[in-house]
Amino acid sequence: MRPPRATLTGNRVHLRPPRRADGAAFVAAVRTSRRLHGRWVSAPGTPAAYALYLSRYVRRAGLPANAALLVCRSGDEALAGAFNFSEIVRGPFESAYLGYYAFAPLAGHGYMTEGFALALDFAFRRLGLHRVEANVQPDNARSLALLERVGFVREGYSRRYIRLAGRWRDHVRFAMLAEDWRLRRASLRAAVGLPR
Ligand SMILES: CC(C)(COP(=O)(O)OP(=O)(O)OC[C@H]1O[C@@H](n2cnc3c(N)ncnc32)[C@H](O)[C@@H]1OP(=O)(O)O)[C@@H](O)C(=O)NCCC(=O)NCCS
Repeated sequence: MRPPRATLTGNRVHLRPPRRADGAAFVAAVRTSRRLHGRWVSAPGTPAAYALYLSRYVRRAGLPANAALLVCRSGDEALAGAFNFSEIVRGPFESAYLGYYAFAPLAGHGYMTEGFALALDFAFRRLGLHRVEANVQPDNARSLALLERVGFVREGYSRRYIRLAGRWRDHVRFAMLAEDWRLRRASLRAAVGLPR
């Protein structure tokens, strides 16, 4: 089966899979985002880590187990961030985890909010998933605000859930279901430039 076509276009950004040619710009963006990323995420910040990321997140054929989408500013193609779907499980579950980060110079301009809506369209309308789960540290205010802005529902609390920056960190569990997204996308559609 062919993988779903993965370029999604909004009003100000578009999402597309990462390529080998993005390596230098991606690694540079991660390095300039160290303070922003802090202890919240661990993004590939060396050429070797980027190569591993590509091998894990970009598949040439078949339905993916992981899928990455770069947030590119339309016009100049500047990298604004990334969305990473992992552990995509089909069958009765139809679920994936979603991780994300902005890149420092372009953070705080609304690009990730727009990108999030496009990424959810990818998950629910192209991959046909039923559930997307996102886990966030309880004191990560910007990420909590982003999830709430997009319409994720808080489901629970996972103790010592992911080891980041050398420590097991508690996370709050959020999810968006396909049913939720059908309602939520209607209110975001015009602002983001989602297709009908
Ligand atoms: C969490 C994170 C991805 C949010 O990214 P971001 O770039 O701030 O996201 P956005 O720009 O879309 O956020 C919207 C902000 O831009 C503002 N904004 C500016 N112009 C805007 C526009 N045209 N449209 C919408 N929002 C706009 C919003 O008001 C909002 O600001 P506020 O937080 O003061 O309310 C980013 O902070 C990050 O990478 N953090 C570190 C990594 C991380 O925590 N990842 C998640 C782990 S769970």
